Amino acid sequence: MTWLITGGAGYIGAHVARAMTEAGERVVALDDLSSGSGARLPEDVPLVRASVLDGEAVEAALKEHGVTGVVHLAAKKQVGESVEKPLLYYRENLHGLTVLLEAVVTAGVRNFVFSSSAAVYGMPDVDLVTEDTPCRPINPYGETKLAGEWLVRATGAAHGLSTACLRYFNVAGAARPELADTGIFNVIPMMFDRLTRGEPPLIFGDDYDTPDGTCVRDYIHIEDLATAHLAAARRLVERPGGDLTLNVGTGTGVSVREMAALIAEVTGRTEPAARTAPRRPGDPARVVASAGRIGDELGWRAVHDVRSMVESAWEGWCLHHPEARPR
Ligand SMILES: NC(=O)c1ccc[n+]([C@@H]2O[C@H](COP(=O)([O-])OP(=O)(O)OC[C@H]3O[C@@H](n4cnc5c(N)ncnc54)[C@H](O)[C@@H]3O)[C@@H](O)[C@H]2O)c1
Repeated sequence: MTWLITGGAGYIGAHVARAMTEAGERVVALDDLSSGSGARLPEDVPLVRASVLDGEAVEAALKEHGVTGVVHLAAKKQVGESVEKPLLYYRENLHGLTVLLEAVVTAGVRNFVFSSSAAVYGMPDVDLVTEDTPCRPINPYGETKLAGEWLVRATGAAHGLSTACLRYFNVAGAARPELADTGIFNVIPMMFDRLTRGEPPLIFGDDYDTPDGTCVRDYIHIEDLATAHLAAARRLVERPGGDLTLNVGTGTGVSVREMAALIAEVTGRTEPAARTAPRRPGDPARVVASAGRIGDELGWRAVHDVRSMVESAWEGWCLHHPEARPR
């Protein structure tokens, strides 16, 4: 087997590439380096510098490297930006997927793992989100992921492609500091950023219907997420014809207030203390995965805890922001 990882030079892609090569799989990365960095990739992973929107380049890469499966992570991922630039998101995420799938079908590739998101669920009003919870995305980013799943499944059914759509919950942490996410798009780096600037971390809303009034999320360690990809990829090969849709989460919720306390403890930056700010529109009170189906289907479960996510994310943050460490 040779796996092409699109977006392989990104935060998640580089971790998936690492987990798959360490497990003995052959891997090639395809990335346009719009937000990724080739330096993240293991030395033995070739990088094809191209966009998934370039069908000829993708097809050539599939043929040249004898690719038998694709893990598709290349995408735009910022919810706010997707509201401002829906055309960009539909072009990159959905048209890019269409072009990629055309090349996959033409080249006779048989296995496809798609990077989806808990954003497909929108504002779920349930204790544990199962894969059967209705999908009602509330922004263009989530829409492109849901429509992407439809496209992947339909192509799988029509062209004999084994498929897995993995719906990631809140991804955090790093296997090594150099592999950390450098963006500031979710609660952990946002709090690191505020603390580094000597400003209080913000808790958006403390009047939700949750135990401490703040939003509750399911955090998944990037190394666990990477092994979920490996398990899904291997499962497609072992049992061809699969059509899996799986949450990748832990089943455990952590509130924003609990996260702020843990961040203060791990970073040693207890001052300034977190401050409450008004709710942000579009933040559901609670989004926690049911991890039952992925356990049953793949025998996979998360093994890393939230503290190790925060610790490893902090090491990565300090690599790029040495001034962040308390003196
Ligand atoms: N990080 C999260 O919390 C999270 C949660 C749910 C889903 N996801 C999904 O996981 C995937 C990877 O996210 P990430 O956090 O690693 O983001 P990232 O920005 O670090 O990685 C994306 C990679 O794709 C590349 N890329 C973007 N557009 C491309 C194109 N047209 N052609 C080729 N390469 C392209 C970028 O250069 C980058 O290396 C995305 O599909 C994202 O929507 C991420």
